[in-house]
Amino acid sequence: MKKILTLSAITIAFACNTPKDKSGNVSLENDKDMIVYGQTIFAKNCQQCHGEGGVSMMPNIPNLTKTTLADTDEVGNLIFHGKGNMPAFEEKLGEPEIRAAALYVLSLKK
Ligand code: HEC
Repeated sequence: MKKILTLSAITIAFACNTPKDKSGNVSLENDKDMIVYGQTIFAKNCQQCHGEGGVSMMPNIPNLTKTTLADTDEVGNLIFHGKGNMPAFEEKLGEPEIRAAALYVLSLKK
């Protein structure tokens, strides 16, 4: 129950606004929280194809630690619309979830 409350608090925070630090930059501290949140979304929605940590044992599934997608817009668009054999998540995940999952994917990049 506590976990659900924490997650919805994060969701609400992001639905309203991207957290900024005092100088108006997107807060890295909050991005860290989003990455942790993104990992839980990844485990539920993505891991069955992409594998733990984004490295799949299945053929034809790209290794996410080597993605050439550059930022949350590019990764988020792909998650939203899907591509090839990857389903679209536009009806399954809200924008904050997609952003969190995208941040998590980008955090895997080596
Ligand atoms: C049914 C299996 C499946 C699921 C579920 C899935 N994906 Fe994918 N994903 C794929 C496949 C297949 C591709 C390759 C698409 C192509 O290029 O044709 C792909 C491509 C990607 C890419 C692009 C990688 C690159 O560098 O080109 C990203 C990023 C990605 N997926 C993230 C996610 C995330 C995040 C989720 C969960 C919200 C997810 N995927 C769920 C199968 C899946």
